[in-house]
Amino acid sequence: MKILVTGGLGFIGSETVLALISSGHTPVIADNLYNSKIGVLGRIETLSGVRPAFYRIDVSDKKALADLFEKERPEAVIHFAGYKAVGESVSKPIMYYRNNLMTTLSLLETMEEFGCENIVFSSSATVYGTPKRVPLYETDKRGETTNPYGETKSMIERILEDACKAFSSLTAVILRYFNPIGAHPSGLLGEDPRGIPNNLMPYIAQVAIGKRDKLHIFGNDYDTADGTGVRDYIHVVDLAEGHVAALKALDGKKGAKVFNLGTGRGTSVLELVHAFEKANGVKIPYVIEDRRPGDVAVNYASVEKAYRELGYKARLTIEDACRDSYNFQLKNPDGII
Ligand code: NAD
Ligand code: UD1
Repeated sequence: MKILVTGGLGFIGSETVLALISSGHTPVIADNLYNSKIGVLGRIETLSGVRPAFYRIDVSDKKALADLFEKERPEAVIHFAGYKAVGESVSKPIMYYRNNLMTTLSLLETMEEFGCENIVFSSSATVYGTPKRVPLYETDKRGETTNPYGETKSMIERILEDACKAFSSLTAVILRYFNPIGAHPSGLLGEDPRGIPNNLMPYIAQVAIGKRDKLHIFGNDYDTADGTGVRDYIHVVDLAEGHVAALKALDGKKGAKVFNLGTGRGTSVLELVHAFEKANGVKIPYVIEDRRPGDVAVNYASVEKAYRELGYKARLTIEDACRDSYNFQLKNPDGII
């Protein structure tokens, strides 16, 4: 299938482009390089032997999108393009609402104009808000989001649901990612955060290569086995495979469909630190700090629906992810150039 991948040079998008190529699909990438480098395209080619068609466009630009659709006529869209930094979304909410909502609205309008009826959207477990219990099921209500980034995901889910109700030929597959970590095992593709990483794994990896002196653990007084926060970390290679599996949901019944993409297992901050040390033979010095505002104690997915309806199951371990994140960090100490 020919698939437009917006944000296809980013962390998850680039890995998904590889997975699509190896399962026989033809990805076409649209990315404005806001948070990625053009060098990623060459790395995709090195790994797959294929250089996908690439359009350097802003996905909210309807004219540019129409030109792309005219030339490429994609049958489906996987929509990764968006801003994702939670803290930045609090200080720059308008920028976040504009980019995340406008890219989606422009895409939906262009899809309608060109008769493209399938969209897969990158949502986040953040839409559940503070869990009342775990695991989190797709049938649980969207909760109260704690930041503008999370709210854009919640709003876009609603937009997609409403669009599917109004246009009976549209299918929207909403994928709620838990915590993506890891990198391609070659060390050629991975997460390349700008500035000080906000997320745990990139921070640990930078401590491991001596770029930062110690990890700051946000709270050890949560109601968890060791007091640190528990999350469902999923290897990005597994997550990419989840998108290939999600294409199955485009066959048959139309409408909006929601799937969690996680492992179904929770890992604490300290467990992740120790797994990283063991997998890579390094020491990660850390200090305990106050809790980070907005953090929840425990968060992990029910993965039953993805298995039942898509036959999908994550297969890589936390140790695999620790090894691959470290390898990527070692090979790209200053990110992808
Ligand atoms: P990323 O920043 O690495 O990739 C996003 C890509 O979109 C970048 O290459 C960026 O240049 C591009 N982009 C942004 N705005 C654009 C625009 N207007 N036009 C064209 N391209 C644009 O992020 P990622 O980690 O790969 O995340 C991909 C998607 O998954 C995002 O929507 C994100 O919110 C969502 N998500 C990510 C995580 C995570 O932890 N990484 C978790 C849940 C959901
Ligand atoms: C965060 C976002 C979420 C987003 C996800 C993936 C918040 C509240 N949530 O999730 O919306 O979808 O990233 O991008 O920001 N930790 C430390 N030290 C650090 C960094 C993190 O102890 O330097 C701890 C956190 O307190 C948490 C765990 O590690 O317990 C995971 O944190 P992080 O990687 O930032 O992901 P989330 O907060 O789960």
